[in-house]
Amino acid sequence: MNILAIGGSLRKKSTNMGLLRCAQAHAPAGSTITIADLSAVPFYNADITEKPEAVKQLLQQIEAADALVFGCPEYNYSIAPALKNALDWASREPDNKLLTGKAVAIMGAGGGMGTSRAQYHLRQVCVYLNLHPLNRPEVFANAFTNSFDADGNLVDEKIQGNIESQLAALVDWANQLKK
Ligand SMILES: Cc1cc2nc3c(=O)[nH]c(=O)nc-3n(C[C@H](O)[C@H](O)[C@H](O)COP(=O)(O)O)c2cc1C
Repeated sequence: MNILAIGGSLRKKSTNMGLLRCAQAHAPAGSTITIADLSAVPFYNADITEKPEAVKQLLQQIEAADALVFGCPEYNYSIAPALKNALDWASREPDNKLLTGKAVAIMGAGGGMGTSRAQYHLRQVCVYLNLHPLNRPEVFANAFTNSFDADGNLVDEKIQGNIESQLAALVDWANQLKK
């Protein structure tokens, strides 16, 4: 199974990207996790008729993915713009063909609520995009405790275990959806 991870924080020491790196390192047997690079993806603008390379690559990766993992930071109680922007680009392809029907897992690192408010907003966006987020297990991490090292790498074994459980459930969910 080919899984694409998309994270909503662009900063180098991002804890949300740390969650995705952990996911990548613990991909379930038989699956690979690629992490998308959003650093050069511009804001969606219908006037950009010639897609930049970074957008083309992102769209190709989404198309090739059997399932998606979102690293969802919480900005002002909602979805961080880089992640929403990636979905906005993908959603403009004809018939929503890149996204429709795909299985999704959502994880996030933020303040004390673990990005839950943003994650539930993201679930609402998934309804329109006909993405199918896994209900559980959910992954909510606190970015401000010692669960992460100074470079944003996850060091908390309990959260790592949550991620591994979520990925196993994602693979099952994606296989169910394909039937
Ligand atoms: C513009 C902005 C708004 C934020 N709003 C929230 C918020 O509503 N809830 C929250 O838990 N954290 C909020 N934070 C703090 C982020 O959770 C924190 O910066 C987190 O580390 C970002 O993820 P990252 O480590 O992947 O970059 C906000 C940060 C920024 C930059």
